Amino acid sequence: MEMLHFRKSLFQLCLSLPLYFSSLLLLSSAYTVPDKYFINCGASSNTTVNGQVFVADSNSLSFSTGKSEEVRNTSAWIPELYQTARVYRQPCSYSFEIDQNGTYIVRLHFFAYLSRANLYDALFNVSASGFSLLTNFSIRNSSSFPVIKEYLLTIPQGKFRIQFIPSQDSSLAFVNAIEVFLANETRIIDYAPHVSSARNN
Ligand SMILES: *[C@@H]1O[C@H](CO)[C@@H](O)[C@H](O)[C@H]1NC(C)=O
Ligand SMILES: *[C@@H]1O[C@H](CO)[C@@H](O)[C@H](O)[C@H]1NC(C)=O
Ligand SMILES: *[C@@H]1O[C@H](CO)[C@@H](O)[C@H](O)[C@H]1NC(C)=O
Ligand SMILES: *[C@@H]1O[C@H](CO)[C@@H](O)[C@H](O)[C@H]1NC(C)=O
Ligand SMILES: *[C@@H]1O[C@H](CO)[C@@H](O)[C@H](O)[C@H]1NC(C)=O
Ligand SMILES: *[C@@H]1O[C@H](CO)[C@@H](O)[C@H](O)[C@H]1NC(C)=O
Ligand SMILES: *[C@@H]1O[C@H](CO)[C@@H](O)[C@H](O)[C@H]1NC(C)=O
Repeated sequence: MEMLHFRKSLFQLCLSLPLYFSSLLLLSSAYTVPDKYFINCGASSNTTVNGQVFVADSNSLSFSTGKSEEVRNTSAWIPELYQTARVYRQPCSYSFEIDQNGTYIVRLHFFAYLSRANLYDALFNVSASGFSLLTNFSIRNSSSFPVIKEYLLTIPQGKFRIQFIPSQDSSLAFVNAIEVFLANETRIIDYAPHVSSARNN
């Protein structure tokens, strides 16, 4: 595991920005094309949130979703991005092609509701490239939705996998939206409003 893994709260991330950016800026001159994925999971049409297009993940060529099901609930109280979800009933990976070594922000969005699957029942682990991101994760008792989990990960060039592992009790894991993009000051500041919801446990 030569890969570095930083699990910081967004709050800590913000506090450490000046130091963090000074090292990033040195690195960024070597980068030309930022890698980025903004994915509307389980969806067949793209959704735009705050100017950012979240691409539908049905039939995508640039990433693969693994063996899974698509569920939806189009009730008006659910924000459009979260009306669809991808459901895993067995351990399986979402995989992305990463073109350049770098420090990436990975965000997982969860919003529970009733659908063909009862997303409130989900209980699962999530790992990425061998690192545990979420353990015995459940949002049954969350007081607010969406629940957004954010990670700063050093990802090497090549295949990047996010593995969803349902617990034997629930046999259900899901995700509503995924973001993977190179960490740089523009995007971190753009997304600063997510800070409070990201820490909602
Ligand atoms: C969704 O957006 C992607 C990337 O911008 C584009 O290639 C694709 O055609 C769009 N799909 C739909 C269904 O609009
Ligand atoms: C990415 O990092 C690996 C080692 O971690 C190195 O072998 C490879 O050359 C790097 N690739 C680029 C494009 O910098
Ligand atoms: C969508 O959610 C609402 C409220 O939770 C629920 O009453 C409804 O049955 C759900 N729709 C589907 C198709 O499951
Ligand atoms: C997660 O759940 C498994 C199975 O119920 C249990 O053995 C394990 O101790 C739990 N781990 C944590 C960190 O809660
Ligand atoms: C959710 O809350 C109920 C009632 O407070 C509690 O019995 C249950 O263990 C909680 N479930 C989880 C997954 O935390
Ligand atoms: C989830 O992770 C915990 C802690 O590593 C582990 O005890 C549990 O067995 C894992 N659950 C599954 C279904 O792999
Ligand atoms: C940060 O990301 C934005 C959006 O992709 C891009 O326009 C900008 O050039 C990037 N900045 C650096 C320093 O890489």
